[in-house]
Amino acid sequence: MTKRKLLLVTISLLLAAVLSAQEKSSTAQEMYRPQFHFSPREHWMNDPNGLIFYKGVYHIFFQYYPEATVWGPMHWGHATSTDLFHWKELPIALYPDTLGYIFSGSAVVDAKNTSGFGKDGKTPLVAIFTYHNPVLEKAKRKDFQYQGLAFSLDDGMTWTKYAGNPVLPNPGITDFRDPKVSWYAPQQKWIMTLATKDRISFFGSKNLKQWEKLSEFGLQLGAHSGVWECPDLMEMDYQGRKTWVLLVSINPGGPNGGSATQYFLGNFDGIQFTPTDTATRWIDFGTDNYAGVSFFNSGNRKIFLGWMSNWQYATQVPTLQWRSAMTIPRTLSLKSAAGKLYLASSPVTEMKVIKGKSITEANITSPVNYLVAAHQKNENGLFQLDLDLTAANNFSILLDNETGEKLVIGFDHTSNKYYIDRSKSGVTSFEAGFAKKHFAPRLSTGNSISISLVFDQASVELFADDGLTVMTDVVFPKNRYTALRISTEKGTIVRQLQYTILKSSIQ
Ligand code: FRU
Repeated sequence: MTKRKLLLVTISLLLAAVLSAQEKSSTAQEMYRPQFHFSPREHWMNDPNGLIFYKGVYHIFFQYYPEATVWGPMHWGHATSTDLFHWKELPIALYPDTLGYIFSGSAVVDAKNTSGFGKDGKTPLVAIFTYHNPVLEKAKRKDFQYQGLAFSLDDGMTWTKYAGNPVLPNPGITDFRDPKVSWYAPQQKWIMTLATKDRISFFGSKNLKQWEKLSEFGLQLGAHSGVWECPDLMEMDYQGRKTWVLLVSINPGGPNGGSATQYFLGNFDGIQFTPTDTATRWIDFGTDNYAGVSFFNSGNRKIFLGWMSNWQYATQVPTLQWRSAMTIPRTLSLKSAAGKLYLASSPVTEMKVIKGKSITEANITSPVNYLVAAHQKNENGLFQLDLDLTAANNFSILLDNETGEKLVIGFDHTSNKYYIDRSKSGVTSFEAGFAKKHFAPRLSTGNSISISLVFDQASVELFADDGLTVMTDVVFPKNRYTALRISTEKGTIVRQLQYTILKSSIQ
């Protein structure tokens, strides 16, 4: 290379670096922009799709409309990360075609090349998604949703749609969508868990291309005041005992209104899901964790990611360049409380990559408006607060600012409930039901309460009692909450308080 050429290349590389740094900082500075939750740089996003871990990389795909900040003809957006917090947004993975919009679905590593999509020894990744055909829908037909496939031979970077689509035609049901596919080793076959209006239908396949119906579940069980969507079937372990978990999102009909995700515990024999009891359980009692599912191929742990919004107001929230974010990735586990089994969620351990300085205080007795001084010094305002308290009485955690906006997270001892009160949290007027106080039962019965609160610019995630009770709520404060205070009532002691600064992971 000549000196002149070298100079030109160096200048253009420097320019590209400067431009990308500028883009990064301008994105980071946008009003309400989540700093460590994934959000698309621009435009509309809903459900996480095709969550998959492969060759050291986490891929997320997502329902995406690249032309507006409201829902429209769906594509699959794409982002990757090696640590679940620093995400790189990539070109759109799947575009709508003559068969329809690309609705939600999943992705698998077809390690045995059962599909035959593999070539020259390359392992195919296969995406299984719902086609939603707007023409058939308009014509008032019932069969406008059916399932299709796409595959990737370059480790998930580009995708080719299968020429034989659709692989699972519609039998005449208006809601026939959101396939989540997993490998059932005992019978060497794929299982598709599909949302079919008011129940879940299971299908089986040896090659991902031909599917046979196996069974149905749930018509008489669980919450039913909305349509069932985005299921996930997972085998988990509780103290050496295998338990199957079936996630089912429902909209509307959540415990605090609008969209939410319930789950069932039971057994699955390769054909049928048999629940262990008839209880309705919720993975998250907040209003902003919907359509969440687990990653395929994530090793021994189940990693869950949800859409941090709610159909009740998702298209009205006051963000400008984009709409919505994902929850922080969570590790799922089974935990027992009062003799009953529950699905608990906790932030993934990778969260350490965004953790900054931390301070610890011990034995704060009967504080009233106890000011956490470290928060005032924390310029970006992002933090995790871990409290270890006695469960004797009420307590509250108050975030507020000079303009009178406040967000309160607390525990009501009499009703034995946790709550998040966002009624005066900032901008709330965009939808009548947004300014509310949300409640969640305390499931743990111990004498101590543990709280982990994760706060980003526009969201709060509460993990109580080691993730037995979870609440996720979005908020839109016009100004940063500059003060963080803790109050407890007589008898409650904060045994330990840990305040950790969190860092932005926008790149
Ligand atoms: C859930 C959902 C899915 C559907 C997708 C469409 O939020 O309604 O059932 O596939 O969104 O974007």
